[in-house]
Amino acid sequence: MPPRAGEPGDSMSLSYRAFSLDAVGEPFKIRQMDLPGLKTGEVAVRLQAASLNHRDLWIQKGQYAGLKFPIVPGSDGAGTVEKIGFGVDAAWLGRKVVINPSLDWGPSQEAQGKDFRILGLPDPGTFAQFVKVPAANLAPMPAHLSFEEAASLPLAGTTAYRALFTRGRIAPGEKLLITGIGGGVALFLLRFGLAAKARVFVTSGSDEKLAKAMELGAEGGVNYKHEKWAESLLEKAGHFDCIIDSAGGPGFSNLCDLSRPGGRLVFFGATLGNPQEVPLRKVFWRQLNLLGTTMGSPQDFEAMIKFVAHTEIRPVIDGVYPFEQADEALRRMDAGGQFGKLVLRISE
Ligand SMILES: NC(=O)c1ccc[n+]([C@@H]2O[C@H](COP(=O)([O-])OP(=O)(O)OC[C@H]3O[C@@H](n4cnc5c(N)ncnc54)[C@H](OP(=O)(O)O)[C@@H]3O)[C@@H](O)[C@H]2O)c1
Repeated sequence: MPPRAGEPGDSMSLSYRAFSLDAVGEPFKIRQMDLPGLKTGEVAVRLQAASLNHRDLWIQKGQYAGLKFPIVPGSDGAGTVEKIGFGVDAAWLGRKVVINPSLDWGPSQEAQGKDFRILGLPDPGTFAQFVKVPAANLAPMPAHLSFEEAASLPLAGTTAYRALFTRGRIAPGEKLLITGIGGGVALFLLRFGLAAKARVFVTSGSDEKLAKAMELGAEGGVNYKHEKWAESLLEKAGHFDCIIDSAGGPGFSNLCDLSRPGGRLVFFGATLGNPQEVPLRKVFWRQLNLLGTTMGSPQDFEAMIKFVAHTEIRPVIDGVYPFEQADEALRRMDAGGQFGKLVLRISE
């Protein structure tokens, strides 16, 4: 009997619309593409929504390693499984799913292996009507979320989960500082930190964003644009058990001062570049733990999805844009105006 539509061996190719970035600094252009055949263990997901990460902006600006054009960007997506390759359980067909963008993480929980890649470069990403991924990278969509909310979850949620729990080992009652609260990952850190019963403090370059963070449950915060922000935070909150930062740059030294002796400082980004100096004497004398973290292992992703489903956490979304307006969404991210995730609606 010939295979039915969607089942392994169905060779009907799928023609679909996807964003393509053809050179550094260019806007994304919509192109018609054909989905290549599925390999064993792979699925094709019909995407309903995708979300932006700062990575997409770094790629467009040419500030990301390993650029190879043309690129179909996008690491985050949610949709339904349209086709399955050989070896994939037919129960996935038609299911609502979220996609883990960590490809080939490798066997170790400590760090990713040499084949690790993030969906959306070099592999074609989720700013498209279809994406091809290994079935092992799927998770059922948490039932309380819409497609737009689910699409906000994978990269930022996994990064936040690993930073806070796997690396930061946050415990109930501990004091947590999250810098730059307007960011996509930062707002998951706030939601997750509160759910873990930490006392959460934040920084932002905007008083309006600080006020919004308090509404969401942050205990206090300061504007990092004020000259003495670190001193004023210390006065307000005292020292922190755990600090999670993605800005880097000149604030690094302040973070060392804000940590309690023996505290944990977790870094997942360097939006402002490298610090001009690393105050090594403070690091060793105060027994500070500097912890790097990137994305997450399949276990981190799975644990994050379970945590979100169990706590019924909803991602903070800044705005939902029609598919065609990906560049408008990127411009908002570039201006730093967002509070939460920027989402593209791909189909109704
Ligand atoms: N290693 C990884 O796995 C990983 C994963 C995700 C992201 N990242 C990196 O982490 C960074 C954030 O990513 P994202 O996608 O969450 O970006 P995003 O949504 O664009 O957020 C960036 C945030 O950076 C904050 N910021 C800017 N200047 C700051 C400063 N001087 N001090 C403190 N915060 C400052 C802003 O906070 P306010 O608006 O509140 O001022 C802004 O909202 C990027 O560099 C990204 O490449 C790394």
